[in-house]
Amino acid sequence: MCGIIGYIGKKPATPFLISGLKRLEYRGYDSAGICVLENGALEIIKEEGPIKMLEAELANKILNSTIGIAHTRWATHGRPNKINAHPHFDCQKKIAVVHNGIIENFQALKVLLESEGHKIISETDTEIIAHLIEKFYVDNLEKAVTETIKCLEGTFGLAVMCATEHKIIVARRGSPLILGIGENETFVASDASAIIEHTQQVIYLKDNEIAILSEDGYSLKNINGELLTGETQEIKWTIDEIEKGGFKHFMLKEIFEQPKTIANTLRGRVNNGSIKLSVNLDPKKVDKIIITACGTSWHSALIGKYLIEKIVGLPVEVDYASEFRYRNPIIGPNNLLIVISQSGETADTLAALKEATNCETLGIVNIVGSTISREVKSGIYLHAGPEIGVASTKAFTSQVTSLILLALYFEEQISGEVDRELINELESIPQKIQSILDNAKEIKAISQNFIGSHNSLYLGRGINFPVALEGALKLKEVSYIHAEGYPAAEMKHGPIALIDENMFVVFVVNHGPIFEKVISNIQEVRARGGRIITITDMDNEVIKKLSDYVIMVPSVSEELSPLVNIIPLQLLAYYVADLNGVNVDKPRNLAKSVTVE
Ligand code: F6R
Repeated sequence: MCGIIGYIGKKPATPFLISGLKRLEYRGYDSAGICVLENGALEIIKEEGPIKMLEAELANKILNSTIGIAHTRWATHGRPNKINAHPHFDCQKKIAVVHNGIIENFQALKVLLESEGHKIISETDTEIIAHLIEKFYVDNLEKAVTETIKCLEGTFGLAVMCATEHKIIVARRGSPLILGIGENETFVASDASAIIEHTQQVIYLKDNEIAILSEDGYSLKNINGELLTGETQEIKWTIDEIEKGGFKHFMLKEIFEQPKTIANTLRGRVNNGSIKLSVNLDPKKVDKIIITACGTSWHSALIGKYLIEKIVGLPVEVDYASEFRYRNPIIGPNNLLIVISQSGETADTLAALKEATNCETLGIVNIVGSTISREVKSGIYLHAGPEIGVASTKAFTSQVTSLILLALYFEEQISGEVDRELINELESIPQKIQSILDNAKEIKAISQNFIGSHNSLYLGRGINFPVALEGALKLKEVSYIHAEGYPAAEMKHGPIALIDENMFVVFVVNHGPIFEKVISNIQEVRARGGRIITITDMDNEVIKKLSDYVIMVPSVSEELSPLVNIIPLQLLAYYVADLNGVNVDKPRNLAKSVTVE
């Protein structure tokens, strides 16, 4: 995600930059840095780790500059260390850049710039922007930035300074940026939380717009250099509301972010109907895959088993990391161990990874530079941005998306062919999820009926059995209502005894060969008086008759169905918990990252 703040005015910039960064820290906290213009030279101060590290470093410095840009980083390209921290310089240290987003063609640009003699020192995609601006710079920073963004593919929110011009140039495509209009001062920031203490008058930059901030104010232009009149708006939100994007809790915000986070997981990895992953292993040499993880990540692993066995035809075993490490697992030299972890720090998952001393390992991880991401031989980053709500939501859908990409990649590497229809459909998933989110009110209304419930059963089959497990985990984590996930057909082997009129049963059922069988399971629950919520893509009269509530989801291929089916279950858990008065972002007894065994 990353956070950007910039200031130009009559007062010293540094205090504004630091207080703004603190407000933006929820967007990333791998490293932080500032750039100010002191005595005609750009000075960059940056530190690895949270903003307090940068603040400690700045405590010994006297900085009077009235212009500056700053950044707090959520690492995507390159580890979270000081070299990769923003701002980044060009070769001559005359241009400094902070960036939020992902530059997809940065490798090609890097090769070009290096062939022209530029010295690129970090692993980031951002540094190439500074060098491109240097390449185009004659005597006008605005022109050089405009030429540069014409060469960039991907997403960016940029703030740029130059040692010889008292200006900040700002540009955006895909990543948010707003201008804050104060008296004799102008701000730029990734979101309003960073500037709301100083001004409520803001302009939301649109894609391909460029803003020129100077001591006299600001001007706004399009990519062709034509002047625009920006629409100034007044912000009435509190700081707390802004950090959560107007949502009551981070969990809800993160549920609603999923169209974007899935698109970010896919970004740059699907090219002309082919899958591009930087995975350093030959799948032709792999004879068995073992996937290990904990909690929600373990549910993704179960979906991964289904996907890889169906799409690639390789056998897959899935194990809880905490069990795997203590059961003397048999790992052959041609096996591949995949570990899945949002945080990349879960102690059991890390210990399970250490069991794999003689085979290839691959991590599916969200946090760049985390311990697991460093210890695996190759990996896939989720690029889902910081997940702050303790209950995992957007990481789950990005994990499943990564596993679909991995299965398709292996298929292509092994057979030379790939299911292009599935790839096309995968790219349409963000939009389909959006359509479910647009109906959140309906799910909120249904959730009222859970008030006072103590028990629930979540049932699904095939690839949607792990979805039932994940739906049940979400409900119990945040609402403290007992919820059990089960394969629908197993219900009659025991759990059916629990069903009475106080028991809520949530079915997840899609079109396909087992549709009729699940209908029979729904009949069995109805006959015993259970209260039924059905998540389905089938506009089916029998389902409507048997269920108390039906939540419709868009119809997609079976392989992709977990991505749409989980959304109503996440919303249901959230709304039930909120109605029960639980602090959804910090449910009792739980920690975001379980770094103890
Ligand atoms: C559930 C949840 C946990 C985590 C589990 C693994 O909402 O968040 O079950 O999924 O602790 O954490 P990571 O993925 O960080 O290894």
